[in-house]
Amino acid sequence: MAILGATGAVGTELLELLASRNFPLAELKLLASERSAGKRLNFRGESLLVEPVSDRAFDKVDIVLASAGGSTSKTWAGVAVDKGAVVIDNSSAFRMNPDVPLVVPEVNPQAAAKHKGIIANPNCTTILMSVAVWPLHQVQPIKRIVAATYQSASGAGAKAMEEVKIQTSAILQGQEPVAEVLPYPLAFNLFPHNSPLTDSGYCEEELKMVNETRKIFGNQDIRITATCVRVPVLRAHSEAINLEFDTPFSPDAAREILSQAPGVKLVENWQTNYFPMPMEASGKDEVLVGRIRQDISHPCGLELWLCGDQIRKGAALNAVQIAELLVEKNLMRPLSVVNG
Ligand code: A2P
Repeated sequence: MAILGATGAVGTELLELLASRNFPLAELKLLASERSAGKRLNFRGESLLVEPVSDRAFDKVDIVLASAGGSTSKTWAGVAVDKGAVVIDNSSAFRMNPDVPLVVPEVNPQAAAKHKGIIANPNCTTILMSVAVWPLHQVQPIKRIVAATYQSASGAGAKAMEEVKIQTSAILQGQEPVAEVLPYPLAFNLFPHNSPLTDSGYCEEELKMVNETRKIFGNQDIRITATCVRVPVLRAHSEAINLEFDTPFSPDAAREILSQAPGVKLVENWQTNYFPMPMEASGKDEVLVGRIRQDISHPCGLELWLCGDQIRKGAALNAVQIAELLVEKNLMRPLSVVNG
């Protein structure tokens, strides 16, 4: 196995997950840019050297977990596939390609079997929302989703997380915060998501929630709208989700379904006003869901609130679960396919 982007926020989490989940691998290669050449990272008590990515780095690799940004994936995914690997790509480069399955193992594991060498890991906010609403969609099809997100700095990478800490400390010392990685100071602030704006008025992050959710659910009819916002939280996203069904969906029924749903943990104490919080979701595998209530503005509407670790289930854990699926279901690339 190889991790492309091993030194990044998601890359380091991948290392931790592969070790803690005892992923069956013979050898692990750590790949990053020239900047990281010579760095060492720990894996299962061993100190592994980080190599700059190159053609030769993918020799004899079965699975590549790529998390080094879209342009790096576009450059290297084809090379790795030609060498016989399956690439599980965390970037947005291939997600909407009809030949590339977009997989959330709790939702559409069967899609992974159709891969032609690349499987895409969905956008983080999309993964978290999908895990929480798919079990309800199974019982009663969702007609429309209105989402508002509260997204952590980690989505913009390890450097953005560091920047928020430095900004926080600067402000507490009475200094001006400096923004170099993110477009504006995030500490003690928030701003609409910094992904590029499109002609529709939506930013790319918002459109990812729309288009990727439809692809994962295999349903182009669900109407979805989202407002994505960056907040000064380090590594867990929160989302306020409004769902509309054809007929009323009782909050108690939703609670019952979600209390047994894979990858979901129900967190609700109405007496103490205790519901999911990003601080508690950080470092956890599950998407925390709570504050499930009837939408008072619509008889067939349901409101819920969720928090999930952006680096973990929003990225690294989902990718490792896909890799586990490949091993479990024997979906690696047979040599005959590789040789054309
Ligand atoms: P490096 O540390 O050498 O720059 P994050 O999402 O936390 O910003 O991490 C991005 C990851 O992608 C890092 O491991 C980074 O390596 C890697 N990366 C960025 N650009 C390239 C590139 N052109 N080739 C290979 N790896 C890259």
